[in-house]
Amino acid sequence: MDVKNKTISMVNETHFERLVIAAYRLPFKLSKAKKGYKAIQNSGGLVSAILALSENFKNSNKALKNSKIVWAGIADDLPDDVTPESFENDKFDILPVTIPQQVNDLYYGGFCNDLIWPLFHYFPSYAVFNSDYFKAYEEANLKFCEELVKTIKPGDFVWIHDYQLMLLPEMIRQRMPDVTIGFFLHIPFPSFEIFRLLPRHWRESVVKGMLGADLIGFHTHDYTQHFLKSVRRTTGYECHQNIIYTPNKLVKADAFPIGIDYDKFHDACLKKAVLIEKQKIKKHLSSQKLIFSVDRLDYSKGLLLKLKGYETFLETYPEWQSKVVFNMVVVPSRDSIGRYQEMKKEIESTVGRINGQYSTLAWRPIVYQYKSLTFNELIALYNVSEVGLITPLRDGMNLVAKEYIACQVENEGVLILSEMAGAAAEMNEALIINPVDNLEMAETIFNALEMKSEEKHARLERMQNRISNYNVFTWAFDFFNQTYDTKEQQNQRNVKFINKTISSQIVSDYRKTGRRILFLDYDGTLVPFAKYPELATVETGTLDIIRKLSADPKNQVAIISGRDKKFLEKQFADANVSLVAEHGYYIKKAGGEWEATINTDEQWKEAVLPIMNEYVSRCHGTFIEEKTGSIAWHYRNADSEFAELRLHELMNNLAEIIRYKTDLEILEGHKVLEVKSGKYDKGQAANTLMTDQNFDFIFAAGDDKTDEFLFSTLSDAACSIRVGLSPSFAKYNVTDIPALLKLLEEFTK
Ligand code: UDP
Ligand code: G6P
Repeated sequence: MDVKNKTISMVNETHFERLVIAAYRLPFKLSKAKKGYKAIQNSGGLVSAILALSENFKNSNKALKNSKIVWAGIADDLPDDVTPESFENDKFDILPVTIPQQVNDLYYGGFCNDLIWPLFHYFPSYAVFNSDYFKAYEEANLKFCEELVKTIKPGDFVWIHDYQLMLLPEMIRQRMPDVTIGFFLHIPFPSFEIFRLLPRHWRESVVKGMLGADLIGFHTHDYTQHFLKSVRRTTGYECHQNIIYTPNKLVKADAFPIGIDYDKFHDACLKKAVLIEKQKIKKHLSSQKLIFSVDRLDYSKGLLLKLKGYETFLETYPEWQSKVVFNMVVVPSRDSIGRYQEMKKEIESTVGRINGQYSTLAWRPIVYQYKSLTFNELIALYNVSEVGLITPLRDGMNLVAKEYIACQVENEGVLILSEMAGAAAEMNEALIINPVDNLEMAETIFNALEMKSEEKHARLERMQNRISNYNVFTWAFDFFNQTYDTKEQQNQRNVKFINKTISSQIVSDYRKTGRRILFLDYDGTLVPFAKYPELATVETGTLDIIRKLSADPKNQVAIISGRDKKFLEKQFADANVSLVAEHGYYIKKAGGEWEATINTDEQWKEAVLPIMNEYVSRCHGTFIEEKTGSIAWHYRNADSEFAELRLHELMNNLAEIIRYKTDLEILEGHKVLEVKSGKYDKGQAANTLMTDQNFDFIFAAGDDKTDEFLFSTLSDAACSIRVGLSPSFAKYNVTDIPALLKLLEEFTK
C-alpha cells in the first residue's frame, strides 16, 4: 500500500540562527575499519529522531542553510587516536563532553539508569537510591553546562534532551538569562505518586532544573499533566492551562508526540538494496508468515511477556504451528549493567525452551537475534512481515511502531501495539493490547494473521496519513514555534517589569516630591506567605524600612490589608502608619483610632458559615478565618489540585446564596476565598485616606486580586506595582517581595 500525504501543515520558519543540541550521547560511535574508522549509529529513539532531523534540517529549512547544527554529547569508548574532528561532517559540529569514568559510572550507570529510568518507567522496585548518584548527576550536568556556555551565542536555540540532562536548563539559564532554551523528555514523566519517591531535595532540583527552559515538551498529554502536578506539589508555583508561573518568568509545558522521517522509511522500501534484503528473507520463509519485533534490550520493553504471549498463541492455535515464524531482534543496550545481563540470559533460555518444545525438522518457531540491524535489513524486515509485535510494558513513545507503519509499502502488515507505549495515544487503529495479558496477546496475534485485506488497508491508511503529516520535522518546528510563542508571552509581560531605568525614574520622582502617600499591602507584598496566617509576621529589616519611610514628614504610609485590626496593630505597633484592616472595613489613621467605614448587617454569616464549614470537612488542610465583616476559607495547606476542584464547587454554592443578597461579594485572594460586603474595598479605603489632601507622589503595592481595587482606583499619575507575574491594573510588576523591598529601601536613602 502506498499512501503518502506530504502536507506539512506547519510553516517551517525559524527565528534562530543556529541550533545547539545537548543530549547524553553523540549520534555515532567510531569503530576501526580497514581504512580509518567507520561511524556506527548509536541505538535508541532519541538518536534516531534527532539524527533524522539534523540530516535533513537544511532541506527543511532554507533559512539555516549556512549554519551547522552543534551536537554536544558524550563520546564514549573513543579509540586513542580519534579526535573530535574524526566525527566531522557537513551536517553538524560535534562538541564532545568528557566526564571522568568514575563520575560517569555514578551518573549514567547510577542516577540515570539505576534510578530515573526504572522509576519513570514504573519499576520503582528496581530503583536504587544512593546519595553519591545525585552528586555525580549534578557534576555531569555542570560539565555539559561549562562546555556549552563556551559555544552558545545570542540568537542560538539551545535544545536539551532527555532524563540525563534535567538540571542543565536551569544551569545554563543562571549563566545566560536571555538565551532561548527548549527541553524535551523522551521517556514518560510518571504520576506524582511515583515521582515523589525521589528524595525531596532531588525532586525539587529536577523540577526546577527543567523549569530553566522556556518550553518543556513531552510525548503525551498524560506525561504533561503528571509533570504539571509535580511542579505544583514540589514548588507550589501556580499553573494554568499549561503555563507555569515561576518567580522569574512563565514557562510552558506541552505535548509534542515525536515523529519519524516518514519519507525516508517509506521510500526506502522500494530501493534496490532493500529489495535484495527482502529476497533473502523470503527465501528463508517459503510460505510461512512473519511476525517481527525489534527492541533495545530493556526490561521496559516487556520482552519475556512477548515470548509468553507468542507461546500461548502457539498453544491455543495449533493450526498455526509451522505456518508462522517469529523473528525477535534484540538490540544490545546497557549490557554492562547486571540487570540487563540477567534479563538477556532469561530471554535466551526462554527462546531455547519454546524452540525446543515446538520445533520440527523443517520449522523453528522463533528466530532470535541479539544484534544491531543495518538500515536496509530493518526496512526489509518491517516491509515483509505480516505482523509487527510491539509490546512494551512502558515506553515514552516507541518509534519502531511508527517506522513499521511507514514501511507498509506493497504490503499490509498489522501492528499490534501495547497500550503502555506513548505511541498508542496516536495510533488507535493498531490492535491495542495489554502486554501482561498473554491470552489477549495470543488472540490478537491470531486476529492479526486472519484479518481481511480491506480492514488492514483501512487501518493502515489512517495511521500512515497521520504519521506522514506529523513527522519529525513538523514535530521539531512545532516545538520551535511554540518556544517562540512562549518567549513572546514572556516579553509582553517583561514590558511591565521594573528594570534599572524604570526603578531609577521612580526613585527620582519620589525624591523630587514633597507630599507623598504610600499604600502597602501586607501578605505576599511585605511578608511571604506562611502555612498559617498568624505565622506570617513582619521581619525586622522590613519593619525598619517602614519605620524610616513613615518617619519622613513628607510621607504618609498606609498598610492596606485583609487582616484584622488586632493583627495589624501588633505588627506595626511602633510605626507611624495608617492601618486599613479587613480590606477597608476598618481604617485607623496614623495616631488616630479605629473607625468602621460602614455599618453592615452580619446576618448573612449564618447562611455562609455552615457551607464553608462543610468544605473544611470535605477538603483536608483547609480552615476558616472569621473576621468582623467577612469569612475566609483558606486552602494554602491543602492538595492544590483537589482544593481547586472544591474551590469551584464552593463558589457555585456560595453564588446561590449571594444571588439574593446583592451587597455581598466573593473575593479571591492568594489561596483564600472570602465573602464580604461589596460596599467597601481597598480602593475606597485609599480614597478615604486621600480625602481633602493633595499628593504629588502616590505609590501602591500589592500582590493579589484584592489589590486590583486599589490599583484601578488610582489616578494615571500614581506609581502602582504588582508583586509577581500576574496581569494587573498596576503600572508595573516586580518579580518578588525582595525586589519590592529593595525599591522601598532606595526611597529611604
Ligand atoms: N534501531 C536502531 N538499531 C537497530 C534497530 C533499530 O537504532 O538495530 C532504531 C529504530 O529504528 C528506532 C530506535 O532504534 O528508531 C528505537 O526507538 P524506540 O523509540 O522504539 O525505542 P527506544 O530505544 O528509544 O527505547
Ligand atoms: C532511550 C532514551 C535515550 C537513550 C536510549 C538508548 O531512547 O530515551 O535517552 O539514549 O534509550 O539508551 P543508552 O543508555 O544506550 O543511551
